[in-house]
Amino acid sequence: MRVLVIHAHPVAESFNGALHRLVVERLTAKGHEVDDCDLYGEGFNPLLTREERIGYHDIGDNLAPVADYVERVRSAEALVMCYPVWNFGYPAMLKGFFDRVFLPGVSFTMADGKVKPCLHNIAKVAAVTSYGGTWLRATLVGNPPRKSVMRVLRAIVKPAAPFTYLAHYDMNRSTPETREAFMKKVAAAMDSF
Ligand SMILES: Cc1cc2nc3c(=O)[nH]c(=O)nc-3n(C[C@H](O)[C@H](O)[C@H](O)COP(=O)(O)O)c2cc1C
Repeated sequence: MRVLVIHAHPVAESFNGALHRLVVERLTAKGHEVDDCDLYGEGFNPLLTREERIGYHDIGDNLAPVADYVERVRSAEALVMCYPVWNFGYPAMLKGFFDRVFLPGVSFTMADGKVKPCLHNIAKVAAVTSYGGTWLRATLVGNPPRKSVMRVLRAIVKPAAPFTYLAHYDMNRSTPETREAFMKKVAAAMDSF
């Protein structure tokens, strides 16, 4: 499959940096055509400008500032995202990617004020992420990062597309063993992606 890997972490030597390299390595080894989009590495600008907001609904013209990224999203058949949980959401870099690239005409259309998702070229999704806090702490606040993937993103891509959510919780108390076990889990998931 043509897999778009989107990575958002500013430190290459971080755990998420290691997860990103593992994801790309395993998918490539399995013969997938990987488009490795390292948002920090590519210097992606996550800020939606005044002009972009004003032209947000002008289908066609609205793509111009991020045309290359739109093309990469449109040519993907699957999506794998690798990022840490920050403030119980996506890092601003990744949120900004969605704000600027998942535009009307790209991820949804609007008819009579009604949103119709249309990112149907994406037929498979995996999220690889980590939380500082525990699963219980995340669950007690409704686990918004998980819902953003398993509910929000799920509603946008191809209907019934398989989703995988892999999270290392409790990174604040992680050990080499827990990190190693999670890396193994991610490797296995990418091997069978
Ligand atoms: C700006 C920032 C915000 C964070 N917010 C949360 C949070 O809301 N919930 C949580 O469980 N962990 C939070 N964390 C902890 C990160 O999820 C944790 O540091 C990360 O998963 C560790 O992976 P890394 O070493 O690859 O950065 C936050 C960390 C940072 C730097």
